[in-house]
Amino acid sequence: MADRNRFVTLNRHVAGGPVEETVFSLAEGTRPAPGDGEVLLRPLALSVDPYLRGQMTGIDTFYLPQFALGQPITSLGVGRVVESRHPGFAAGDLVQGVMQWADYSLWSGSDTLKGVGALGPVDPAIDKLSHALGVYGLNGMTALFGMVGVARPEPGDTVLVSGAAGGIGAVAGQIAHILGARVIGLAGSQAKCDTLVRDLGFDAALNYRSATLADDLRQAMPRGPDIYFDNVGGAVSQAVMAMMRRHTRVVECGQISTYDDENGGWTVDIRPIHANGLIWESFTTAHFAEFYPGGLAQLIHWVRAGKIKILETEHRGLEAAPRAMVGLLRGENIGKMVVTLE
Ligand SMILES: NC(=O)c1ccc[n+]([C@@H]2O[C@H](COP(=O)([O-])OP(=O)(O)OC[C@H]3O[C@@H](n4cnc5c(N)ncnc54)[C@H](OP(=O)(O)O)[C@@H]3O)[C@@H](O)[C@H]2O)c1
Repeated sequence: MADRNRFVTLNRHVAGGPVEETVFSLAEGTRPAPGDGEVLLRPLALSVDPYLRGQMTGIDTFYLPQFALGQPITSLGVGRVVESRHPGFAAGDLVQGVMQWADYSLWSGSDTLKGVGALGPVDPAIDKLSHALGVYGLNGMTALFGMVGVARPEPGDTVLVSGAAGGIGAVAGQIAHILGARVIGLAGSQAKCDTLVRDLGFDAALNYRSATLADDLRQAMPRGPDIYFDNVGGAVSQAVMAMMRRHTRVVECGQISTYDDENGGWTVDIRPIHANGLIWESFTTAHFAEFYPGGLAQLIHWVRAGKIKILETEHRGLEAAPRAMVGLLRGENIGKMVVTLE
């Protein structure tokens, strides 16, 4: 039926414990009709991101709104305008911004992700649409501004990156390498570690699931890292911070290992920070919003020069979106996790 629309919804909030595919449903309704100031889109690629987990907890103190049960889940995406009643967009435009996990997504004219921006055009220099969500999107911008704007390694510094085979970590590590640092990655499997060293030029990579992690860290970095770029938090980061020396720095990007905790996560045991006299700095990409255009140009340049290689894990079809979300939290992705809908 021409006016049919499918969309992915959340059945219940989950605070504590893992999210399973059964908490999602593929619902059916009618294709929405845009009102004044609204745009109807056909999503072509959807970004699957860790922050979505926080919107599934039902905990209102999370920094983004909670998903309403039974309503379409939203994330960043790339789509094609089908019908527009907004002066800034016309049918056929290729756009990126917040959109629904649906065959047809309604953009209200004000839907936005805090600090990331509203609906806008996709830069024509971007060759593959999903890259607008990964290396040229939230992942790439976070890696770039986190590394160049916050971590700022000096040549010869040892930079340790956790979540190193993920969307942000893989790019952040390559940028640290471009800046002249010795780069060591932490990832959840030997295969991921091999990819980091063989394909992305990391100097070393360690499997954080190893029973000998503390020894492995000491062997790779007898003096500890100068900068720890942390995407995961939790027990892994406690082990790292316990071996860091005074005045070395933790750049906190995310805490994914805690997002399934009862209280929604984000708690950090500061004892090793206190005991070792570490310097801690957190950031969000939103702090650098005014620099996005320059950041995009820099990332495009590094990719074209072969200095940043792109890793992506792609799921196909709207019905695969729950699988992709669960897979992201279980570490099934290497590089950016996306769902393509073409
Ligand atoms: N500061 C900001 O502005 C900003 C913006 C976006 C995202 N973030 C944060 O940055 C981090 C990375 O995000 P991303 O989009 O690039 O996701 P990602 O790293 O591509 O995907 C998540 C990865 O996290 C790892 N992971 C999952 N559970 C883990 C656990 N219990 N312990 C250790 N690692 C675990 C898995 O890899 P393994 O196989 O290696 O376990 C998984 O592949 C997240 O913490 C996210 O919340 C921050």
